[in-house]
Amino acid sequence: MEPALTPTEWAEHFRRQAEWTRAARNYLYRRADLLRARRVLDVGCGTGVITEEMATRTRGRVVGLDINPDFLRLREGNGAAYVLGDALRLPFAGRAFDVVVGHFVLMWLRDPRQGMAEMVRVTRAGGWVLLCAEPDYGARLDYPDLPHAAWHIEALRREGADPFMGRKLRALCAEQGLDAEVGCLSAPWTGEAIRDSLDGEWATLSRITREFVSEDERRAVRAREEAAIARGERFVFMPVFYAAARVPG
Ligand SMILES: C[S@@+](CC[C@H](N)C(=O)[O-])C[C@H]1O[C@@H](n2cnc3c(N)ncnc32)[C@H](O)[C@@H]1O
Repeated sequence: MEPALTPTEWAEHFRRQAEWTRAARNYLYRRADLLRARRVLDVGCGTGVITEEMATRTRGRVVGLDINPDFLRLREGNGAAYVLGDALRLPFAGRAFDVVVGHFVLMWLRDPRQGMAEMVRVTRAGGWVLLCAEPDYGARLDYPDLPHAAWHIEALRREGADPFMGRKLRALCAEQGLDAEVGCLSAPWTGEAIRDSLDGEWATLSRITREFVSEDERRAVRAREEAAIARGERFVFMPVFYAAARVPG
């Protein structure tokens, strides 16, 4: 992931992202009976926002794994154990976990197919793989027709991430022999929600587009967005997909 934020700013960003997907996580935790899981793994745990949340929702032991030592140094609390490691070569024995979770992670992996294979390998038969949040910027709708989605897509591509991971979840699961339940958090943002998040959104847009959009263009687009908000017309639909799959015996 691109380095323009400090690890502390990333931690704040991860906390904000986690707010958007709370409803899906609550559903998935119940679906996989997280409370009764004995061993839980959070792959690509970042600063541990989701890892620590899971530690409060299970009687079992939760492990967070990430490839970035700076994120692990900033981890959120002490409810879980943390391991520095690569999602493409998980340092765990086969079938070691009851529930294996990823939250905004597959889209960042150089080889998401290998990442999925590893998640399945370390999940016990009858256990669950939960892909809690993978967005699809190709399915984002903006009214009026602003370039936000195109900018995110370009920025993610430049960072080596897949902006279209959401639509690929079911296929990635099927390749591993998993019959996944795939759903979508459809978060249409109108009025208040957009107004409240505007400064944060534009801080992100300025950061991620600084190499390919001029300041003048950004200023003009923001003015169009603010005018649409003032007229009560602004609408955003940003689909974030999730998948739950039980590993067969
Ligand atoms: C968008 S962040 C999500 C962090 C966390 N899951 C959350 O939602 O707060 C993606 C994370 O994947 C990690 N990551 C990327 N490639 C990885 C790999 N090959 N192995 C382990 N972690 C990886 C990054 O370091 C980053 O922490």
